[in-house]
Amino acid sequence: METMNGKGEIVIGNEVFKILLTEEQIQKRVQEIADELTEQYKTKLPILIGILNGSFMFFSDLVKKVDINCEIDFFKLSSYGDSKISSGQVKMLKELNADITDRHLILVEDIVDSGLSMKYIRELLSKYNPASVCVVSLLYKPDCIKYDVKIDYIGFEIDDKFVIGYGLDYAQKYRNLKSIYVLSE
Ligand code: IMP
Ligand code: MG
Repeated sequence: METMNGKGEIVIGNEVFKILLTEEQIQKRVQEIADELTEQYKTKLPILIGILNGSFMFFSDLVKKVDINCEIDFFKLSSYGDSKISSGQVKMLKELNADITDRHLILVEDIVDSGLSMKYIRELLSKYNPASVCVVSLLYKPDCIKYDVKIDYIGFEIDDKFVIGYGLDYAQKYRNLKSIYVLSE
């Protein structure tokens, strides 16, 4: 990629992003979460719900690694606009297609930051009386949480710094990086 410097860092204007989690580290952790979900849901038929756009890569790797019968569906939300700062508002851009009443749901998110998006989704879903809701987030920023949301599986806890790659964007770009990079000060 043209923005990659000789040290394997991403340079965007005068900002430098350093590697935080390698492809190997991510894949190992995704497999561990998948194994736990396989154990928990082996006698059920859950619906795995990816929250677009950010979770698309994690979702696809996770779905390939779980060894259960499942259905899949997607939500599309927008909260960040095109910058590094959350707009503080959540917009629903695509609703679920599946009928979720009495179903076991596994929500798959890329990152929980303030918790606003997850709170919004949980409140929306609870109206349809699902049998259960489990939340999986690849990343979690404990120092940023503002809304009380339960997360059942966390891939990695990270510092309060902006990250890109493996689905996560900066102004819609860099989602296709296989590793996760963090903005260095
Ligand atoms: P929350 O609603 O504040 O918890 O923010 C959640 C959403 O913001 C995530 O689903 C991401 O799409 C986005 N987000 C939060 N932190 C970052 C980041 O460091 N990089 C890229 N996107 C982020
Ligand atoms: Mg997201």
